[in-house]
Amino acid sequence: MNVKEILINRLSLSDGEYISGAELARQIGVSRNAVWKAVKSLENDGYIIESVTSKGYRIASQSNKLSVEIITSKLNAKKLGKRIIILDKTDSTNNYAKNIAAKGAVHGTVVVADTQTAGKGRLGRNFVSPFGMGLYMSVIIRPTFSIDVAALITSAAAVASAEAVEKLCGNDVHIKWVNDLYMNGRKICGILTEASMGLEISSPDYVVIGIGINVRKFEFDDELGKRVSSIETETGKIINRNELCALVLDRLEYYIYNLEKRSHIDEYKRRELLTGNIITASIGTEKIMGRAVGIDDNANLIIETENGGRRNLSSGEANLVRIKN
Ligand code: BTN
Repeated sequence: MNVKEILINRLSLSDGEYISGAELARQIGVSRNAVWKAVKSLENDGYIIESVTSKGYRIASQSNKLSVEIITSKLNAKKLGKRIIILDKTDSTNNYAKNIAAKGAVHGTVVVADTQTAGKGRLGRNFVSPFGMGLYMSVIIRPTFSIDVAALITSAAAVASAEAVEKLCGNDVHIKWVNDLYMNGRKICGILTEASMGLEISSPDYVVIGIGINVRKFEFDDELGKRVSSIETETGKIINRNELCALVLDRLEYYIYNLEKRSHIDEYKRRELLTGNIITASIGTEKIMGRAVGIDDNANLIIETENGGRRNLSSGEANLVRIKN
């Protein structure tokens, strides 16, 4: 590691406390002038570093720069985040991750980008990803569990992301089946999981879990703006994306390694928004209307149809028609 890398590492471990230039120079084994030069260079890279004459340096809490060092310093996960790739720009972090996964990227590799030019949503939609406004990340996992269990990954990622957001901003986060996170009735996060089947068909070769969280306030076009929001818009709080990334990975690791036990499913059920209400659901070309009566242990949506029948939906899209009375 060079001086700059060691410096950002030390500053990110200080949890917002100032560290004096002399102390940093001593820890890194360089002159105070070299520390000062490294600080300037970090500022050039986009970090916001506060310096106070009698106290020293610290990373400003509003520093919005994505950083491997900062994410790593906050991370408790042992496997996810083992390798983190940060990109200024890519078409889609899921595409990038699938590409490197096909070339052998290890389990736990994470790709994060400041912006996506062709961010992908479910059902062929796009995911608007303006520069620096959100956390756009994809996690590569190489499951050892069966396809049936792998089908639970998306719901686990939804719970992991909901818990991470809630922990950092303190506001309630709900899940709308299958995988959208909502705050105050508007979507703040979407998840797109893509899998590749290898020759061994009992479990996927790799799975890419793509998570897009709208962090900062920004203007969507009119139509989208009615349904889509961001953490800052809903709470007035600016969440640090590095911290959010680390927390999502921590929670995701816990739930992925406990997937067979379905450790996330009670939390999923508790947070789910459609349950109890009249909804419409589309499964391919089929459309059904009924009451969402719950979520089963495989994260399927249970619908009681108008003719009294029951359907357990594993995929598709469902929307609220009427709140229950
Ligand atoms: C949806 O809302 O339908 C899912 C959105 C998923 C967006 C994330 S952002 C990171 C990753 N890369 C993508 O292209 N999509 C996912």
